[in-house]
Amino acid sequence: MKNSIQSILILITVLISTTGADEVVYAQVGETVTLKGPGVTYQLEYMYWKFGNQNGPLLAWCNHLGGERITEDTKWKDKLAWSDNSLIIKDIQQENLGTFVREIIKSQTSNFFLITVLKLNVSVNPPSPLLPGENLSLACSVETPQNLEKPKIHWLTPWGENLEMRQETRRVTSKDNGQWTCVVTADQKEKQTKVSVTVLDLSPAPLRPQYTSKSMPLTIPCSIPPHISWEQIKAKGFQEVVWQFSPKSSLGLIHDSETQKLYVLSLERLRWNKTDQHRELKPVQDPQKRNLTLTRKQGRKEDRGDYMCIMKFKNGVTLSRTVHVEVLQIIPSPGTDLISGQPLNLTCSLSHPLPSDLHLQWSPPKQSSLPKSDHYQAHLTIPEVGTGDGGNWECSLWQGKTQLTSASITLKIEHKLSVWMLVIICSVAVIAILLLILVFILYRHRQRRVRHLRHRLCQCKKYVLTISWTDEMAPNTHLHSHSH
Ligand SMILES: *[C@@H]1O[C@H](CO)[C@@H](O)[C@H](O)[C@H]1NC(C)=O
Ligand SMILES: *[C@@H]1O[C@H](CO)[C@@H](O)[C@H](O)[C@H]1NC(C)=O
Repeated sequence: MKNSIQSILILITVLISTTGADEVVYAQVGETVTLKGPGVTYQLEYMYWKFGNQNGPLLAWCNHLGGERITEDTKWKDKLAWSDNSLIIKDIQQENLGTFVREIIKSQTSNFFLITVLKLNVSVNPPSPLLPGENLSLACSVETPQNLEKPKIHWLTPWGENLEMRQETRRVTSKDNGQWTCVVTADQKEKQTKVSVTVLDLSPAPLRPQYTSKSMPLTIPCSIPPHISWEQIKAKGFQEVVWQFSPKSSLGLIHDSETQKLYVLSLERLRWNKTDQHRELKPVQDPQKRNLTLTRKQGRKEDRGDYMCIMKFKNGVTLSRTVHVEVLQIIPSPGTDLISGQPLNLTCSLSHPLPSDLHLQWSPPKQSSLPKSDHYQAHLTIPEVGTGDGGNWECSLWQGKTQLTSASITLKIEHKLSVWMLVIICSVAVIAILLLILVFILYRHRQRRVRHLRHRLCQCKKYVLTISWTDEMAPNTHLHSHSH
């Protein structure tokens, strides 16, 4: 009787094994697989895991008293572990694939559950990194025994698009960089396997232009993304990085014919070589650190234009990013040195109409009489400037609540009165000088008159003397000469 029951049990087991598994698990070689199965409670008395079938080698057991054991077989020993009534298989290999039988003994009755682990193959060719334009092929497959239902397989792109295929071949672009997912669906269960694809590229350029002004720094960003190393770039046949600049005319046209080469980074030393046309721009960092940004402390009017960061490879592939630069300027008319009462126009602009999502804001000097309502105008007309308008005028460019850049100028305004005073002072000085000259002339004139008079007087004296002498000569010559 006991024998016949046993043989029935064996028969049932054999039937189960041939009709397939209670559960199918897909795993890539090297993955960690958790075997659990349903209905596991802490009240179980014994749990056994066997490999192949019910009579296969015992892999592990545990009991309700907390005892647990794992086989000493070298094929399994270091791969198996118990965790919360589940059996974990780490770094699963080809030889570990197959059917696992769980036996739970509770109140002296046995309960079997079969889990079949099938091999999942995911391949990416060629291995990363790739250059844009290279062909990438992705394949995902499972080895399903004939008696099991074939699962559905499809791919998910890094941006979440569903490709209804097992195989995918495409010419890569930088968009393909990221995690691709192979999805295997069977028995309403999904198994997702991620593979990463690296496509070499430069970091995205800013969506907006870079704004600068004479009072603000100029920064032209370009960098190699953090997940890409110089070694990977060199391995793909790196040749050089070139920074070049195409100025934009006042009409907003880009002149390619005027394109200037600013810097070259060549393979040999991985150091920047500046050209004659470097425009006093400087690289911010050692290029080894993958930051290829150029900068200058202050912007200039002529900085407006397109800056291109170009990475060239020996096979002709080029990766490039274009950074647009706009310069905010304040144009005072007629100038910055004014006299109170003069008219003044101040224009703040990017030398082309502002995009609709940007706005300007003026910050005039504190004492300025500019009405608040004018603070958001690009063009200010001040019919008569006052001395309060002297000082620093700032015009800032905003996108919502973010300040993009600002420009400033200093106005010098002379008091009108001081000019009149200057005129008076000058006149007084002129009059004083004239008076002085007059006094001098008069003095000279008098002096001459005096000398002339004295001369005349002398002559007169002589004459008088002569007369007196002649007078005395006749009657008393002797006496006169005596008196001499
Ligand atoms: C590059 O360097 C500049 C200046 O040091 C810094 O502002 C910028 O964030 C850096 N870029 C990257 C991608 O590290
Ligand atoms: C200021 O602008 C107005 C019109 O925009 C113009 O008529 C006037 O001549 C300008 N004045 C100066 C000083 O530029």
